[in-house]
Amino acid sequence: MHTKIDEIKKNESKPIIVKNFLDKAEILKFQKLYSDLPVEVDNKRQKIVKKKWSINFEKELQINYKNKLKSIIGDYQMDNPNSKDNLESLGLFQESFLPVSLHVDTGFNFNKIIFKQTLVPLSEEGETIIFKNRFYGCSTTFSINPTELAAKGYNKRSSEHINLYNGETFDKKIHDKYLKHEEIGNLKGLKVELIYKWKLGDILVFDRTNLHCSSSNLKNRKLGFTSSTIKL
Ligand SMILES: [Fe+2]
Repeated sequence: MHTKIDEIKKNESKPIIVKNFLDKAEILKFQKLYSDLPVEVDNKRQKIVKKKWSINFEKELQINYKNKLKSIIGDYQMDNPNSKDNLESLGLFQESFLPVSLHVDTGFNFNKIIFKQTLVPLSEEGETIIFKNRFYGCSTTFSINPTELAAKGYNKRSSEHINLYNGETFDKKIHDKYLKHEEIGNLKGLKVELIYKWKLGDILVFDRTNLHCSSSNLKNRKLGFTSSTIKL
């Protein structure tokens, strides 16, 4: 469990979408950067390719991105795991061909004041569902499926969310329209805060304590860039 919960909560807010965070040229730079970076993870089971933006790549774009982010969320420090070459990273490019399942990006250091998670869409396709529900343990993928619970990955696997909220059956219409890749029983007690349809140029900002996942509406492929931040 995170220890600085009071400070974490003080910095919590509703998710926001900022339009035109990137201009056309910057979007192209991000997309090119993705193709230039080395692969960090190629998970065939989850059909996802991950690449980290190590500080050796596109230094000018790094300054630009960090400053733009500061103008939206105020003072922060980046909090992304180092690349496999142990270089500092500004975040993760994720190209996925399957919807990402329910999880939280709270990290593994319980002494940090975890702050905002950001998503920059780099494909036309993609949808993200943010729930009102929050979690103060470590980065976890939430599931009630035994196979998924036994799977190994960066996140812890757990079903502990089931007993944390009010246990109400999840909204059937929303499940049918957006969350068919999740068993409805895995969404017990969850309430949707925001359904975000990706748009190039936008940035989505939400709290690292917010449960979230992709929507099931993924025909081909989505590519996004995410950063995790902390407050000092
Ligand atoms: Fe996430």
